[in-house]
Amino acid sequence: MLVNAKEMLNKAYEGGYGIGQFNINNLEWTKAILEACQEKNTAVILGVSEGAMKYMGGFNTVAKMVEGLDKDLNITIPVALHLDHGSYEGAKKALEAGFTSIMFDGSHFPIEENIEKTKEIVELAHAKNVSVEAEVGGIGGEEDGVISNGELADPKECKQVADLGVDFLAAGIGNIHGVYPEDWKGLNFERLEEIKEAVGKLPLVLHGGTGIPEEQVKKAIERGVSKININTECQIVFTEATRKYFEENKDKEKKGFDPRKVLKPGFEAIKDKVREKVDFFGGENSA
Ligand code: G3H
Ligand code: ZN
Repeated sequence: MLVNAKEMLNKAYEGGYGIGQFNINNLEWTKAILEACQEKNTAVILGVSEGAMKYMGGFNTVAKMVEGLDKDLNITIPVALHLDHGSYEGAKKALEAGFTSIMFDGSHFPIEENIEKTKEIVELAHAKNVSVEAEVGGIGGEEDGVISNGELADPKECKQVADLGVDFLAAGIGNIHGVYPEDWKGLNFERLEEIKEAVGKLPLVLHGGTGIPEEQVKKAIERGVSKININTECQIVFTEATRKYFEENKDKEKKGFDPRKVLKPGFEAIKDKVREKVDFFGGENSA
């Protein structure tokens, strides 16, 4: 059931659990995430970066693929199709194509410009019943070619952006995209509490979910985080499983080149990873 992400995240906020945003790259990825979340009976957000959107063909291809799978797989849990780290132009195109949720990432602009553009996207999206995520501060590391140093979000700026009517807010609290370096200091819970204090009951988003230790994720959920984004972790398990398949089947010529067999172990690995994360976020049987 395709819906916007507002209600599922408000429900998660009130219920003290998290909803996963799992990024998709192709049909196998999407099917694995939908099947795992249907089994777990939890709502899910399918994240699509602009790079992944281009890889899959375009906004329309992605929207139609997700609509088709939602119908053909008899998915009854709430599913949001969400533009991840969207540009100003990309957000408008995703709205036209039928995405049900949009992240406009204006965090690299000066705050005045971030506010001005976010305000415009909120008006356009809400007119179509599409939810909006905005970003303040920076998520460190690299996501699809976008590199950020990861500064901590300023609670006053978070309040200014929250007041624009955004439905959930990504705020930098020391989180980083990709694999965390060994000397990572962990999430800054003091800053998270200040942000929560400033924005009130607005669900917060934790980007860079890959590799954050379970107890830190739990602490973040207790302090207002309701959406946790996972991308790299699914890529790692998919590639490991696919590599293993090739190593084990290099002498079996026939079995070795059938794409449906080649992609199966990676598909199953993503399903396992998503199940594990849902358990971790506490959202099982919440749909
Ligand atoms: O926007 C998507 C993410 O923040 C995912 O981060 O690749 O570190 O899991 P990750
Ligand atoms: Zn992100």
